[in-house]
Amino acid sequence: MSKSKTILRALAGETLPVPPIWMMRQAGRYLPEYKATRAQAGDFLSLCYNPDLAAEVTFQPIRRYGFDAAILFADILLVPQALGADLWFVTGEGPRLSTVTTRAEVDALKPAEAIHDRLNPIYETVKILSRGLPEETTLIGFAGAPWTVATYMIAGRGTPDQAPAHALKSEDRPVFEALIEKITDATVLYLSEQIKAGAEVVKIFDSWAGSLEGDDFDAYSLKPMQRITAALHDMHPGVPVIAFPRGADTRYEGAHAAIGAECIAIDDGVSAEWAATNVQPDGCVQGNLKSSHMVTGGDALVSETRRIAKALSGGPHIFNLGHGITPDADPENVQLMIDTVREGQR
Ligand code: CP3
Repeated sequence: MSKSKTILRALAGETLPVPPIWMMRQAGRYLPEYKATRAQAGDFLSLCYNPDLAAEVTFQPIRRYGFDAAILFADILLVPQALGADLWFVTGEGPRLSTVTTRAEVDALKPAEAIHDRLNPIYETVKILSRGLPEETTLIGFAGAPWTVATYMIAGRGTPDQAPAHALKSEDRPVFEALIEKITDATVLYLSEQIKAGAEVVKIFDSWAGSLEGDDFDAYSLKPMQRITAALHDMHPGVPVIAFPRGADTRYEGAHAAIGAECIAIDDGVSAEWAATNVQPDGCVQGNLKSSHMVTGGDALVSETRRIAKALSGGPHIFNLGHGITPDADPENVQLMIDTVREGQR
């Protein structure tokens, strides 16, 4: 592990003159080369489970743009599938899963240790990436946070307000908590195996953290991510963790300490200036350009990119979007963002 890698330096707490940069969903449908490989694979899940093709789409944005990090190509919903849930993707609509809402259904899930049977191809992808990435590029592994993964398992699909998961939480808390526990255990084993295969950093996506209120936010977003982070730090000292409790708003303050993560990723619901004062003193911050600038481009993209880089220039910062890039984005706008971030370097 080379500490000359800029992402690792930022994660170690270093303030760099130019922030390292990567982008959530950087391998995706806005890239023609992604669409071509995906067509070759067939459907999305076949692409996830094909190590050569999954590695190929991970390499694509590195070749095109020279991002400072590559993120493993996979999906957060592979863990429920490995635990025994049925999973499929409906084109144009999103994921569908068999639901888990009763004690019997939680008990019927496979033991956490059994996930590797299904997830071995993912570890194979990580190995290919670890061997093939440029020296300066950091390899990031990832998983969904227990709350976010549970919202999909309980509802059987994505939901705007996570209502079915909130309902189970209030109607049968022991079953809800047993599910969170199961996912937490499986996620530790999954991320640990990614690290053994060559992931140098792991990121935990809690995409729906924002809908948890009061004590529930602490108990079901922060706490499970803290348990995962502590277990990984124990097993793999020195491997940094990026946590993304999306939508946390003012609750991003204190999240480094509550989770024990080296970096907190922020969405565009808080300003970079606010984060510089209230979050960055505790450690590295990742974020947070609005994804829509990748569609609209122009002067607004340049000025917003400069504003964010400047606001977070006084501490460790990894430049990123506030959420994933969308399929309607223009690949040229991505280049413009990168050039703007790196302009100080030239
Ligand atoms: O960031 C990356 O480039 C790495 C790969 C990655 C994907 N999904 C690939 C993907 C990562 C890190 C994810 C995480 C993920 N998956 C999250 C958390 C992050 C977030 O966006 O909030 C969630 C909630 C999922 C579940 C998921 N996967 C949904 C809801 C969908 C459908 C929505 C859509 O955009 O179609 C997916 C599909 C998915 N995962 C795609 C990609 C590239 C699109 C699939 C395709 O090619 O059709």
